[in-house]
Amino acid sequence: MLRPYCPPNPVYPIIWQEDTVVLIDQTQLPGKYTTVAITDYQEMAKAIKTMIVRGAPAIGIAAAYGMYLGARDIQTTDRDSFLSQLEEIAQQLRQTRPTAVNLFWAIARMLQTAKETPGSVEQLRVSLLATAQEIQAEDLQTCQAIGDHGLAVLPSHSQQLSLLTHCNAGALATAGYGTALGVVRSAWREGRLNRVYADETRPRLQGAKLTSWECVQEGIPVTVITDNMAAHCMKKGLIDAVVVGADRITANGDAANKIGTYSLAIAAQAHKIPFFVAAPLSTVDFKLATGREIPIEERHSSEIYQVGETRLCPEGVEFYNPAFDVTPAELITAIITEKGAVAPGKLIRLK
Ligand code: MRU
Repeated sequence: MLRPYCPPNPVYPIIWQEDTVVLIDQTQLPGKYTTVAITDYQEMAKAIKTMIVRGAPAIGIAAAYGMYLGARDIQTTDRDSFLSQLEEIAQQLRQTRPTAVNLFWAIARMLQTAKETPGSVEQLRVSLLATAQEIQAEDLQTCQAIGDHGLAVLPSHSQQLSLLTHCNAGALATAGYGTALGVVRSAWREGRLNRVYADETRPRLQGAKLTSWECVQEGIPVTVITDNMAAHCMKKGLIDAVVVGADRITANGDAANKIGTYSLAIAAQAHKIPFFVAAPLSTVDFKLATGREIPIEERHSSEIYQVGETRLCPEGVEFYNPAFDVTPAELITAIITEKGAVAPGKLIRLK
């Protein structure tokens, strides 16, 4: 029996409060802990696009609340007109970020709720809020299950393990607890964690800024390294396993995650270190056969050439800034989901 999770400072990035959605502004961490109150769906779309809220499951939850906020403000009592206006709101929320499938999954679930709820427009609104809250509550439970299933597949050569992670797949990226960091949290709680190594994760530094911040909140020992140090750390025997999250996994087990994940998987294979992808089943896009079909977001080049107010590169240089890459299934030891950990090729059985 696993001990319950009750950390001193739990991190909840999305809170439904007095008819508004309160988001932790993740663009300000770790320097400033501030929150932003979101009162309509356009603000929510902007918050997702500008990464005030980020991480695949958190984007899905935020979009679900965005759908409700939009629904709340639709000025009609006619059901058909309500549904067609809700579809327009969905379309705007879908335009925010293309890679994380949880966004599209959550919007589809909200639309389905609206279509299947009988009765008046007011009744549809009530069901939509309940569904957004359900998506959020389910995600917290899902992440805890992922964390605990992860424990069962971690290497057993040593009682206390050092785990390497990339980007932030933690409480901030979910309803709370996290996927990859959920495995880290479960390992910490059960006395199986020596420390977590966090890649800084260029260009936006989610590892350096967010993963390290989350770990500090709970006293989890964390060492930040720059991305180009990972293979060296593996060679030195500092890493027992790699655990990362995912933004979209395809039916064959290929996994899109933050840029740099693929090179980490190659390095892990070269050093015979297990490489785990931890993600909820809502991140699996069974409609896509392979990772080649995953749309990869490209972000503004200033993320590369600028740090704060300082320009790093000369004018006249060209940039390429894909936000995600795809790790092929053959480099993944297991995919850890809320229903258990499976080899990527067997993911289809969990459908
Ligand atoms: O661009 P981001 O910060 O939204 O990217 C986040 C990641 O790549 C995470 O690893 C992924 O969404 C999984 S979050 C549980």
